[in-house]
Order: sequence, then C-alpha cells, then structure tokens
Amino acid sequence: MSRHPLDPLDPAEIERAASIALTADGLSDLRRVISVELREPDKADYLAWRGGARVPAREAFVVLLDRGRGCGVEVVVSLDGGCLLSATTLDEGVQPAISIDEFWETGEIVRADPRYLAALAARGVHDPAQAYIEAWSAGDHESAGGRLVLALTWLREHPDDNPYARPLYGLVVVVDLSAGVVIRVDDHAPGTPPPAVERGVYRNGGGRAYRDDLKPFEVTQAEGPSFALDGRVLRWQKWELHVGFHPREGLVLNDIAYTDAGERRQVCHRASMAELVVPYGDPNPTVHFKNVFDTGEYGLGELTNPLSLGCDCLGEIRYLDVVVSDPAGAAVTIPNGICIHEEDVGLLWKHTDDSGRPDRARARRLVVSSIVTVGNYEYGYFWYFHQDGSWEFEGKLTGILHSAGWISKERSPHSLPLGPGIVTSNHQHFFCARLDLDVDGPANSVFRTDAICDPWGPGNPDGVAFRTGRTTFTRESEAKDVVASETARRFRVENPTRRNRIGDAVSYELVPGDNVAPMQQPDSTVRRRARFLDHHLWVTPYARDERYPAGEYPNQHTGGDGLPRWTAADRPLENADVVVWYVFGAHHVPRLEDWPVMPIARCGFTLRPVGFFDYNPALDVPPPGHCHT
Ligand code: NI
Repeated sequence: MSRHPLDPLDPAEIERAASIALTADGLSDLRRVISVELREPDKADYLAWRGGARVPAREAFVVLLDRGRGCGVEVVVSLDGGCLLSATTLDEGVQPAISIDEFWETGEIVRADPRYLAALAARGVHDPAQAYIEAWSAGDHESAGGRLVLALTWLREHPDDNPYARPLYGLVVVVDLSAGVVIRVDDHAPGTPPPAVERGVYRNGGGRAYRDDLKPFEVTQAEGPSFALDGRVLRWQKWELHVGFHPREGLVLNDIAYTDAGERRQVCHRASMAELVVPYGDPNPTVHFKNVFDTGEYGLGELTNPLSLGCDCLGEIRYLDVVVSDPAGAAVTIPNGICIHEEDVGLLWKHTDDSGRPDRARARRLVVSSIVTVGNYEYGYFWYFHQDGSWEFEGKLTGILHSAGWISKERSPHSLPLGPGIVTSNHQHFFCARLDLDVDGPANSVFRTDAICDPWGPGNPDGVAFRTGRTTFTRESEAKDVVASETARRFRVENPTRRNRIGDAVSYELVPGDNVAPMQQPDSTVRRRARFLDHHLWVTPYARDERYPAGEYPNQHTGGDGLPRWTAADRPLENADVVVWYVFGAHHVPRLEDWPVMPIARCGFTLRPVGFFDYNPALDVPPPGHCHT
C-alpha cells in the first residue's frame, strides 16, 4: 500500500518529527510537545502529483511549548531528509493550545493551593479529592501575564455522580500553567455551601428501571459493505474521497470527487470544521468568561473517542485508528477513532404512474464520522454522502450541560434551574466549516441566490410569479453574508468554464440548515476574538497558511486574526481558487429534558449539485431486490 501525500503522520513519523523538533536551538528543559501534524503540501504541489508529477515533500509541523522561556515554538521538519527545516519562536503573549494533560494538571495545581483549600473549607468541603476541577481557557479576560486558565469547581462525593451536579457558586481560580501556580482565588461568595440534593445520575438508567420492550435490531450485510478502502482512499458508489485526520480539527476529508459517466469530476479539495466556539450568555460569576474555542484553544484530535461496534456504530463497519502525540512527543494511538459505514435512509425517489405501477429506488448513504469529548460535551462530526450527488455535514451535540451555582431566590433570565442551587446557562455553539471547494477544478466563482417576487404588471398579471436573483461575489468584501430563510438564500459555487446540457455553468450550492445570529455584543471580548461570527459566509482565495478563522493561536489572543485580517486585503474572487467558510450556530437554551445527559441535538448544512449533472444522477440506482407485501 503506497502512502498518499495527505495521509496523516504515522506513529513512527510523529516520534521522529518530535525528536527532531526538540533539538531546536535555545529550548529550555521545561519544554513539551503540543502537537505534531503533517505539514500538508501546498495545493499546487498536490495537484501536480495528481497529474503525475513527483510526490510532494513529506514534512511535519510541530508546535512546542517552552515553559522555561514562557513561549511557543513552531518547527518544520523534513521527514524525507530527517532534518529540521525551520524553528520560529512565537511572539510573547502568543499561547499555543491547552493540552489535555494541562487540563488535568490544573486540578493538581489548584488542590495544592492553601487559599483554595481555605475557600473549600469555608464552604464545608474538607476533602479536596472530592473537588472536580476544570481548566477553562481564559480568553483575554485576564491581564496577568503567563499561560492562563480559569479553574472551576464542582463537588463530587460519589464516583457515579454526575460531575456537574454540584457546582460551587462564585469560585474561580486563576492559574498560570507555565509557572504551575495559582495566581489568584476569586471567591465571589465565600462560605456558600454546595448544592445539597441534585446528584444528576445518568448511568444505569439514572436510578430508573430500564424499559423492557426493545426487541433486537440487527443490521447485516451478508456480502459486506458497498464501499472499499484503499489505504485511506474511500470509494463508495460513484464517490471517492481521502479520509484525513488533524490534531486540531479532528476528522478531515480530502480530494472529494464523483465519477460521472466514467469521468472523475472534482468537487472539493479539502473539507473540515476549522473552529468551534461556544459563548455562554450569563453574567453569573462562574459563567460570564466561558467562550471556549474548542478546536483552536484545546484541539479536538486528542479528544477523539475510541468507538465500539454495536454501541457507537451499527452495521458493517470499517474503522480507522487515529494517532496523536503526548507531551514528550510519543505517539498515542486512539483505536477506532473514525467510523465508516453505510446506512439505509428510506426512499431515494418514487413515482406511481397512471398504470398503477410504482417505480422507486431506496436511498443509502455513506457515513464517515468521529466523536470527540470536550469536557462536558460530546460533538459528533458526521459527513454523509448521498447517491444523488449531494453531501452533508451533521454536527451531533450531546453530553452534559455545563452547570453553575445560583444563590438568589429569583429566577435568572439567563439560565434554567436544574435543582436547588444549580443552574445551566444559555449558550451557543458556533461551528466554522472550511470548504476548499473545487467544482470541476479549482477555478470557481461564488454567488448567492435569493427568491424574488415579481411585481404586479403585464408580465405578472396574476401576482404569482417569482424568480431567483443572483448576487455575484467579486471580492472578499462582498462575500461577507448571512443566511436568510425568507428568500431561500443559498450560496452557490460554480465553474464558469464548464457548462451543462442547457448551457449553464455547473455548480454546487450550500444549503444552510438551522442557523442563528451571535447573541454577544459586537464589541464584547468573544466577538472581538471570534470576528468570524460577524457573518455566516466568508469567501477567500486559497492560501496555504490561511487555515483557521480566528488565526493559528486563538488561546489568550486579543482578536483580529484570521478571516478579518486576511479579507482586509479585499482580494478578487471570480474564477479563482476559492475557499468557502460557513459559520453555523446551534442555539442552546437548555431544557429540563437536556439533564442529566442531553439527547442529541443536530446542526449542519448540505452541499447539493445544481446543474452539475445533466439529469438525476441516481436514475441508475437499481430497484430494491426484496419487496414484500
Ligand atoms: Ni449546548
């Protein structure tokens, strides 16, 4: 099996890259590896390889944290040459992402601090082992220097208790991870006892008897699945794609193409969720600063779940392991991190004509998925490929509501009471998809479509006529747009040089799902740091280093990096190699039904061919073989 240029680094490559990176000049002894990833080849080199040119250089991009000097270091390593190509010390104040080890180390640092222990004791908590502590990214709420996190505390007396059931009201601990010390204990309500009652148990039925009327439900595919994996290149029906993985973004799909009448037609060069930010909307003292960038401030790769057959996934499954690095640069394999399977999804099309004879085809979809656990929440990243040429992203949100203490007798408009002394706050989850679409090749144009009612007049004597209006985005400044369900607004990517059978340019359209505006004030700290929330759509010309909508290092960043900075150049977009950034929010006003563990909520979007094909591309799906009455 030959290696594909976009294959993620294997365990040996990760360890080799890390060990070379750690030889960079000037590192102190207190250094750790934050991430090791494939430095993806420049698109021109990749496309040249596709056209038969030589394999692009295999390089690794390593981010180190040097606690001794209090800085981050970026290292590029040549894996072909086994040597260090460059090492760049990041500016003072730039903080690489928080690793999962640091998340747990925060608990140890906090539990060792006498001011914290005194605050616990004043609340009647005398065993610090019962304090469940989380490290929340500090944003730019703290002016103190250092590598900062804000630690929150819950009381957990029994191991099966929900860790978020008993929040300590008003207790926030400011920690400097570089120095390994507590900077400050902010106790907004000294001596407030923890909530006494709510245990929030969800394991084993949460204390209720399991329902007893579920019969077995088996999915069998006696002849195996209809897809094939060649290394990480996945072929199913007429689709072909490369299944990638990234330490920050998690699941990545590359080089998505559809074979149409024997021709391999490109649809997308790379698709990923480049950021996920979760601003909370509650002035509560332990909530108001929570606006974590899950992708950019923590990194989803190492938070990937190992999946298990029959539980997470049903049917004939193929799994791919994922590999991340630990703080010393050792490779850590997460088994079954990516799940590939098919699902029956009902009817694909049907018609019964006047003879009474039905014609129909059943729909099946290919699912490529991954699930991450980020503290209290689970995020499922599910990509679906359909037989009608459309494809889709569905985010699945589940896990446990984040909670806070509450001491007032009055209800707060910003949260839902879950029990005495415990509330869960309003919040939003904003995903930013980065879609390097290449519709029949890289040179594409982007426009939006809106339904327009024709005015009354000789051409519209009945007042019923409507048409579709087109607004072309010629430059980046014009492509900052928002969804509008009242005009069925869609965002279309076309190839102006290729025409379908009626002479229109071939295209795909982005169909928004449920979406929402950000509820934070435009000059709030989170909006300044996540400027990409200002619009649902951004379009940029491809640039190798423009990867994340809030920039490379959002942790503790004061804002302005990423999309707002790049698009200030107002580059032209027509007939260009465009990257579409689609921002979509899951608006979460919690319900009692979301506690103590939340049923899955969904959000996402669909990419649908519009005149890309000359006819329904699913005409050739054979009728179902086993109709019973
Ligand atoms: Ni939520």
